Formats: sequence, structure tokens, C-alpha cells
Amino acid sequence: MDRRRFAIRTYGCQMNVHDSEKLSAVLDGAGLSPTPDESQADLLVINTCSIRDKAEHQLYSDLGKLRQWKAERPGRLVGVGGCVAQQVGDRLLGRFPQVDFVFGTHNLRRVPALLRDAAAGRRAAWIDEDATRGRFDLPLARVEPAGGPRRRAFVTVMEGCDMFCSFCIVPSTRGREISRTARDIEAEVRALADAGVVEITLLGQTVNAYGRHDVRRGRAEDAGTMPFAELLARLDAIPGLERIRYTSPHPLFFDEALIRAHGELERLCPQVHLPVQSGSDRILEAMRRRYDRRRYLGIVEALRTARPDVAITSDLIVGFPGETEEDFEQTLDLVREAGLVDSFSFKYSARPGTAAAGLGGEVPPEVAQDRLERLQSQQREQTLAYHASRVGERARVLLDGASRRGGGQVMGRDRHNRVVNVDLTPGTTAGPGDALDVVIVGATPHSLLGRPLAAGNSPDPR
Ligand code: 5AD
Ligand code: SF4
Repeated sequence: MDRRRFAIRTYGCQMNVHDSEKLSAVLDGAGLSPTPDESQADLLVINTCSIRDKAEHQLYSDLGKLRQWKAERPGRLVGVGGCVAQQVGDRLLGRFPQVDFVFGTHNLRRVPALLRDAAAGRRAAWIDEDATRGRFDLPLARVEPAGGPRRRAFVTVMEGCDMFCSFCIVPSTRGREISRTARDIEAEVRALADAGVVEITLLGQTVNAYGRHDVRRGRAEDAGTMPFAELLARLDAIPGLERIRYTSPHPLFFDEALIRAHGELERLCPQVHLPVQSGSDRILEAMRRRYDRRRYLGIVEALRTARPDVAITSDLIVGFPGETEEDFEQTLDLVREAGLVDSFSFKYSARPGTAAAGLGGEVPPEVAQDRLERLQSQQREQTLAYHASRVGERARVLLDGASRRGGGQVMGRDRHNRVVNVDLTPGTTAGPGDALDVVIVGATPHSLLGRPLAAGNSPDPR
């Protein structure tokens, strides 16, 4: 008999993308085959995001449309996982008859059982917090990306968040901080490198908080963890790897050892995505971020000293309750002073159950929109200036596939994590997974343009 086929729709952050990869491996192990084409699928899983109101609403809009998808072929099943599933739980089953099962962010391993029950007509939700490391014991994601060998991979080092920033729903959807053992992480990275992966991105909600609770209690050795910078040094020694990245660090745990690592470790990329959220001390305090702008700018300066070409990017929120024009101008100012190469910026969205949801001082939507546009337009200029400063440099580009710009261009990322489009010289071919050495010949606010240098197998330049 044909294997049943599944498709996964993924919303939200890289943790969700990676959870979908893990779920693919779990479903594969349970005898189903992946398909990118939902019209061919027997099972559709929606991996949801609830970081902002809009992301959550995406689920409800998807579910509306899925009634038709289910009606087209009897026996089709719909599962909902991720942060909205964790938050709403079995109420999703009550509200949406088209949902067959619900699983929380710690319950990927339960999906085959949920699926069996659902196929037998028993709908269920499973959202228990699993505070054990057992939940990391998942099969390695084996599914190859379409069209090329797997060269880049995510590796979870910690999950959960104990920071409780006042605006953020993550501590309630992802649970308490828990770190994997360094030995498990190292084994996974070695296995990936042996299988041809050259770039890894270490993942965690506050990735550089890795092991911190164990280290603070003096029990890191027993727990098998260590400070984040030491973990990086261990991974840096693994043969075959060319690039190590991590996301997202929290400024509070950005210690000197981590800054030093950026000056010392060969494979650690000259790129840090370091969310700041606001440039106003008053707002940072109300956000419960536990650092001030001086401290943030101090980290940036120290990083630049350790690694002069480091590309720093960030996340920013505008329109947090009580944010004045003056607070906002301090954000604009910080973006300039920190020399942010790029940033993601968002309008504040009140999330249920968070401390900020109860604060007064709402910023009118049109004011927040205006601030968002001003911030983004300043960022565009800064990004363009940074890209322009790179023209004439050499870079190595790890290719992802065809360029969005079409016209036979390919695109990939350089060590600074910038998108580089490359015009292939006529007669040459290169595809996903290949590395190309280029000279940067053009810049836009979105990407760099590269021209291939003569072919050769030079090592990834630092
Ligand atoms: N409203 C707007 N943006 C938010 N973020 C997190 N919570 C909210 C919220 N309630 C943003 C932060 C975070 C990024 C992943 O999403 O900038 O770093
Ligand atoms: Fe959310 Fe703050 Fe935790 Fe980041 S550190 S996930 S913003 S609570």
C-alpha cells in the first residue's frame, strides 16, 4: 500500500521551522511520506505562531479554508501544533470541528499516537509541559531539501525562556528554560558535518543563556552543560564545518567570553542578531529587558573591537504602551549609533496573559504605524550604506537556489548572513548547496550582487 502523505505549513520563527523538520522526521518514522504539495496530502499539520496577534489570526483564517480541503477527500486529517496550540489547547477542538488533533510545543513525539487516535475518530489535544530532556530525543531531521544536498542545518541547544519580558508570550508557549547536554549537541553536529552539512545555526529562545542555571548553581559538570562560549569552542573544532551561527542571544547573557569567542573562533561567523527592542531606558525598563542602552551599545562596541567586520542586526518594537515621541527618537538614535546592518521591526501587539497587556498608555495605531515607517525607512538607508560599503570585497556565498530576481541568477548567503545574488557566467552552472567565491559588484537595500571569481576550492574566508 502507498504510504500516506503529509504536508506541514510552518509559521513564525526558526524554532518553528526546525520543529517542523523534527516533526517530519517523526512522521517519516511513523510510516508517512512528506509532500510539498498539499493537494496530494492525507495529513496537513499547521505549525502555528502566536508572537503577535496577526500571526495567531493566520491560523483561524487557514482553518476556515481547510474545511474545503478536507471535503475534497474523505479521511483527510488536520493537526495543529506550535505556540497557538500550546496556548489554546483543546478549546481548538471545541471551536473547530475540522481540527483532528492538537499538540503542544513539547509534544512532537506524541504526534504518531495522536494521529492514530484521530484516524480512529478520537480527537484529542496533548499540551503537557515536558520538563525533561527526553523531549530532545527526536530522530535527526533526514528530509533533504528539494533540489540539492543539505548544507545548512539548525541545531537546538536550549529551549524555553525564563525572562518574562513584559510584552512576550514565549515564556508561556515554550515553557521553562532547559539546555541539552553538550555531548548530545556535539554528537548531532558531528553527524551533520559527516553527512555534508557545512553551516549550522544553534537555536534557543535565549540561546546564549545556554547552561546558565547549571553554571550558576555550580553543577554544570553533573548536568553536562557549560557556558555558551565554551560550547561554541567545542563545536568550532569539529572537522568539516565551515560556518557556525546562533540565534537569538539576549544582551543580558552576552558576556566577555562570548565577545572573545568572536575574535578567536575560526568558524564562528562575523554576524550577530542581537535583539534590543527599544533605545529608551524608560521603555526597556517597562519591557523588563534588564539592560539599558549603554550596556547594549557597550556590547556592540566590544564586539566590533573583537571582530571589526561583524554585522549586527536586531529586533525592535515600536508603540509599546507609554512610548513617547522622545522614547521613539532614542530608538532611531540607537539604531544609528549601533550601526545596525539590518533589523526586524514590529508594532507592539498586546498578548493575552503578559504583564504589558495590563498597562495603560496605549499608543494610537496611526502613531505606531508612522513610527514603524520612519524606523524602517532609516533602516533601509543604513542597510543600503552597509551594502554599498561592501562593494569591491570578496565573499564566499553558500547557495540556496534560484534568485528571486529571476533571469538565471542564483542566490545565497555570505558569512555575514547577507543575501547575495549572483549572475552566473554563461556556460557555468551552480545550484543549492554549492559555494561560490564572488566579488561584490552591486548593492541594494535588500541584497548584494556578486560576480563569480575563477572557479577554485578556496576555504571559506573569515
Ligand atoms: N508585540 C510586538 N512584537 C513582539 N515581539 C515579541 N513579542 C511581541 C509583541 N507582543 C518581537 C520582538 C522579538 C521578536 C521575535 O518579536 O522584537 O524579538
Ligand atoms: Fe520573549 Fe524576552 Fe524570552 Fe525573548 S527573552 S523569548 S523577548 S520573554
